[in-house]
Amino acid sequence: MLVRQLFDYETYTYTYLLGDTKNKVAAIIDPVDSQIDYYMQLLQEFGLELKAALDTHVHADHITALGSLRERTGTETYLGNPGDLDCADNPLQEGKDILIGDIKIEVLYTPGHTDDSYSFIVNDNGQQYAFTGDTLLIRGTGRTDFQNGNANTLYESLHKKLLKLDDTTIVYPGHDYKGWTQSTIGEERQYNPRLNICSKERFAEFMANLNLPNPKFMDVAVPANRSCGKN
Ligand code: FE2
Repeated sequence: MLVRQLFDYETYTYTYLLGDTKNKVAAIIDPVDSQIDYYMQLLQEFGLELKAALDTHVHADHITALGSLRERTGTETYLGNPGDLDCADNPLQEGKDILIGDIKIEVLYTPGHTDDSYSFIVNDNGQQYAFTGDTLLIRGTGRTDFQNGNANTLYESLHKKLLKLDDTTIVYPGHDYKGWTQSTIGEERQYNPRLNICSKERFAEFMANLNLPNPKFMDVAVPANRSCGKN
């Protein structure tokens, strides 16, 4: 499997292109609208047809490329709660795998950062990858103070779902603000300070006191992303 980690320097967002080079098909996770030409170029250079565009959640900090990619490539789109979203072709559902050629994307519901947050697990020749969105970041986690975020739920998603994965699982997060590109579940279990807060109550207290400013594009990004980036 081909894995490319792509970066949007304006919002510190990581996007992942997964390619099955044998069957010439690809999936993309958390694409950013302003980077679409770059994705199209890569797909063309690798000779891959885009079959699935997935968002780990409705983002508050950048505009998704789901809608534009669907227009340009005919890809299927996937989002957590498409209810009112006619631009998302498929709802994500835990236990309902997404098959793209030989790539099997397992869907794990990991709410807490938002109530529509999902992680994607992929196995490739014995190596497991977890695309954790903003649920688990390198030495951190996503915030829980908007979009129906909930620190208690995030604690459960981290401890009962992501930390149950094998320690050798490579963690590919949705963002990094220091330029760290990847980690493993074992590394995060040991060194992520938020995973070492010993109770759910203390974790909730810690998260309630972060006092973070809102993302700078939030007022634009959230409404736009509710229409897959097309408004
Ligand atoms: Fe987010």
